Amino acid sequence: MLVEADARLPTAHNGEIGMPALSEQTPLVFPRADEIPEAHRLPAPIDQTEYLVNGTFRHWSGPMGEAFSPVRLRTPGGLAPVRLGRYPLLTEAEAMTALNAAVAAYAHGRGRWPTMSVAERIGHVEEFLRRFKDCRTEVVRLLMWEVGKSLADSEKEFDRTAVYIEDTIEALKDLDRASSRLDIREGIIGQIRRGPLGVALCMGPFNYPLNETFTTLIPALIMGNTVVFKPPRLGILLYRPLLAAFRDAFPPGVVNTVFGEGRKVVGPLMATGKIDVLAFIGSSQAADALKKQHPAPHRLRCVLGMGAKNPAIVLADADLELAVRECVLGSLSFNGQRCTALKIIFVHRDIAERFLEKMTAAINALPCGMPWESGVFTTPLPESGKPEYLAGLLEDALKQGARIINPAGGTVNSSFFSPALVYPVAAGMRLYDEEQFGPVVPVVPFDDIETPIRYVVESNFGQQLSIFSSSADATAALIDPLVNQVCRVNLNSQCQRGPDTFPFTGRKGSAEGTLSVSDALRVFSIRTLVAAKEVEQNKELIRQITRERKSNFLSTDFIL
Ligand code: G3H
Repeated sequence: MLVEADARLPTAHNGEIGMPALSEQTPLVFPRADEIPEAHRLPAPIDQTEYLVNGTFRHWSGPMGEAFSPVRLRTPGGLAPVRLGRYPLLTEAEAMTALNAAVAAYAHGRGRWPTMSVAERIGHVEEFLRRFKDCRTEVVRLLMWEVGKSLADSEKEFDRTAVYIEDTIEALKDLDRASSRLDIREGIIGQIRRGPLGVALCMGPFNYPLNETFTTLIPALIMGNTVVFKPPRLGILLYRPLLAAFRDAFPPGVVNTVFGEGRKVVGPLMATGKIDVLAFIGSSQAADALKKQHPAPHRLRCVLGMGAKNPAIVLADADLELAVRECVLGSLSFNGQRCTALKIIFVHRDIAERFLEKMTAAINALPCGMPWESGVFTTPLPESGKPEYLAGLLEDALKQGARIINPAGGTVNSSFFSPALVYPVAAGMRLYDEEQFGPVVPVVPFDDIETPIRYVVESNFGQQLSIFSSSADATAALIDPLVNQVCRVNLNSQCQRGPDTFPFTGRKGSAEGTLSVSDALRVFSIRTLVAAKEVEQNKELIRQITRERKSNFLSTDFIL
């Protein structure tokens, strides 16, 4: 049984700039088992032994991984962990079986799935979507328990994923309609479509275990690739209810799953050279390691979402109410565990004090609690060792002269870490460069606008940034140099991925490839054409093939 007491981090907070005195306690209280509302309880630990290969469930009797919740229970003996269940720790052999099933279903592009008509493939995805929607309650509940995401955000993640699937279907219909005609140029008749690439390996991150896996999985599938996917290291059991939907909606071998430690099951898959597309969202180190294992990197298409340290730049003329509102959402939604989160805030020194006062008031007002509580904002963290890591970042900053500005900032109660506003952060502190991926908000004062610009230019990351200003001149003067540093400049708005129809990508170490509903269809396919010299014999051949619907590719059928 885990028994942990509240711990206060060492702090050099001295109540400057009119901040209230420190509290010694985190405001969060974990529940007793009987305090959890009936509707949100987990019936019993899940014992998942099955994994999906070639259209059937295989059962694993080897070593199992244990999944624990970030939620703890208050017991007379102290805080107790909640065991959610077990999942298979497969070995290289089972991973190879899953890969071979995907390779066989693709059959060098001659399999049923890659040669099927677009309309028929869409039919399978629609069938999957119907089954997916039926799993909403169970998946949402597991999202809350496995990664500590609030009920509202868990529902949003599920619903956004369903809408993403619907939008992907519509986008493919559009693409197919535009391709369902022949083009005649310079005496050549051609029909240009997008064809699949082969076998895709899809892996999403723990912070969006459902959505960000599906934003690669679904486009990969619908374009005719076959897939092996591995759930992230946290957010595994929520896939269990979906395994049957995959099994029943797709032909055998089109979707296959592996479970276990990435190093053991994914590395060997890459080393076979049989993976044609790697879709991975996680750290750049892991992405590099995977890419390097592929024996023919020139044959590997990569779609990568990696690290980011998105800055906010708050100019002296910013609307402070609005800037604070967006900075709090941007830096602390889902406890700062978003790749798009604002991870460092540059504030003009003239307004720094007022900005910090308002930020403190806003952070103080954030409701913390259990994921199912109505209106909850900050929740326990799912990664083991994360509070200790964040504490290390704070300690380093405090040693170098920064202070924790908000009263409860940095207090730890087991898996809960109270959001900490840290000021003044400067170059040389770990918080200045490291992607904290948690509820710590570093604020850097600046006098010269070159300071944040240089930060962005010299950063290893290049995903997004936010500018806060009410001046058109000042904003425009920043837009032009900064759009060539990052891939999205947000004006008086937090950084974010959505809407999903907008391109989501990054420069430098932040991403490879672009994802949006329509871009993802391109990423998982390649332009392919059938062409013929415009002579009567060829015209007649094409007429006959299209009129008699002899080919799924060379076809003028129009999806209605
Ligand atoms: O973790 C990164 C996610 O793609 C962020 O998405 O901006 O919609 O929260 P979001």
